[in-house]
Amino acid sequence: PFEWYRKMRSENPVYREDNNVYIFKYRDVTAVLDDYRTFSSQFRDLMAPEMRRQLDELSSPSILILDPPKHTKLRNLVSRAFTPMKIASYEPEIRKITNALLDVVDGRSTFDIVKALTYPLPVLVISKILGVPDRDMEKFKEWSDNLVRVLGFGVDMDTEREMAQYFSGLIDERKHSLSDDLISLLIRAEVDGEHLTRQEIIGFSILLLAAGNETTTNLLSNAIVTFSEHPGSFERLREERSLIPTAIEEVLRYRSPVQSTRRLVKREGRIGDMKVEPGDFIFVYLQSANRDEDVFPNSEEFIIDRKENRHVAFGEGIHFCLGAPLARLEARVAMEELTKRYGDIRAVHVSPEDRVDSFIMYGYRRLEVQAS
Ligand code: HEM
Repeated sequence: PFEWYRKMRSENPVYREDNNVYIFKYRDVTAVLDDYRTFSSQFRDLMAPEMRRQLDELSSPSILILDPPKHTKLRNLVSRAFTPMKIASYEPEIRKITNALLDVVDGRSTFDIVKALTYPLPVLVISKILGVPDRDMEKFKEWSDNLVRVLGFGVDMDTEREMAQYFSGLIDERKHSLSDDLISLLIRAEVDGEHLTRQEIIGFSILLLAAGNETTTNLLSNAIVTFSEHPGSFERLREERSLIPTAIEEVLRYRSPVQSTRRLVKREGRIGDMKVEPGDFIFVYLQSANRDEDVFPNSEEFIIDRKENRHVAFGEGIHFCLGAPLARLEARVAMEELTKRYGDIRAVHVSPEDRVDSFIMYGYRRLEVQAS
């Protein structure tokens, strides 16, 4: 897609096709994401009323698809349970899970790193954080795959129903014996005497599965592919582990796991010279903004120790990714453990068929690597 983004940035940076407006420049992308009054995230408003009613009964709309003031209130509440400090405390557990996964392929010179590491790691971590018993893990993986499959197109009602029932049961269990897992923290969370409702806790739990798993899998896979394309990267990180966080930021910019997001226009406004009006859809190309030559010198180049890197791979403004500290932590720990175990890891035969088949996500379904 990168070539297309580059062409659009230079020829059609704000491009309209009927009610759809596509934007490609960093300046416009950040302006739209910063102006939630004009550019709404409330996609459930578009649903047929009967469908909407059914869905609202199962789970409240998550913060991802709410505008202020509801967004502000809910985000404040869930942030209480999802603080950067809390997330940092999961590091030992993440390292343990990473090593257990890598032990399985220990001694093998080739394996599929998606299957071995990048796919299971985020699911196992989020399950641990939510306090889900190991025996339910398979179900979890299946649900999160189902959610991602329909992402951007609609709703998988059966999955939503099963998940709502499951989390509802978990909430009942935890109410009897609160501990320090995320569900318990969400039950306890309080701002100005307000608590989360059952539907809100369910909505947020579902969002964590949908927003956190495939994205982090893709970040890790994209890192392996990008380092492989730039020989010497892996060795350099092995010798200089303190560079890993910087390198991960550059992967996020260069190969963004979430390529685009959307907004719904709810009042008249402008993007550059283009007038927009209620009913217009905005396709916000984060990946294109991340390669904007007006913002990033040598923007189409991967520079492992890039200094200034204000990429928008985690979004921008009030919806900035709540899970960014967790994704960064998982990626850092995974790269640290890989560079401790191996002299080099190289992706072999990366083929377009192995790419995730989606215009929203960028990643790999399988990735054969050679490890030495
Ligand atoms: C929001 C990307 C990992 C939870 C977002 C948004 C982006 C994003 C672009 C904003 C979407 C928009 O404004 O329309 C990513 C990427 C990830 C990642 C690239 C991995 C590399 C995670 C993880 C979690 C998570 C691990 C949690 C476990 C969330 C939540 C929101 C969000 C809750 C909604 C925030 C809000 O609406 O206020 N993410 N994400 N994400 N992300 Fe992530």
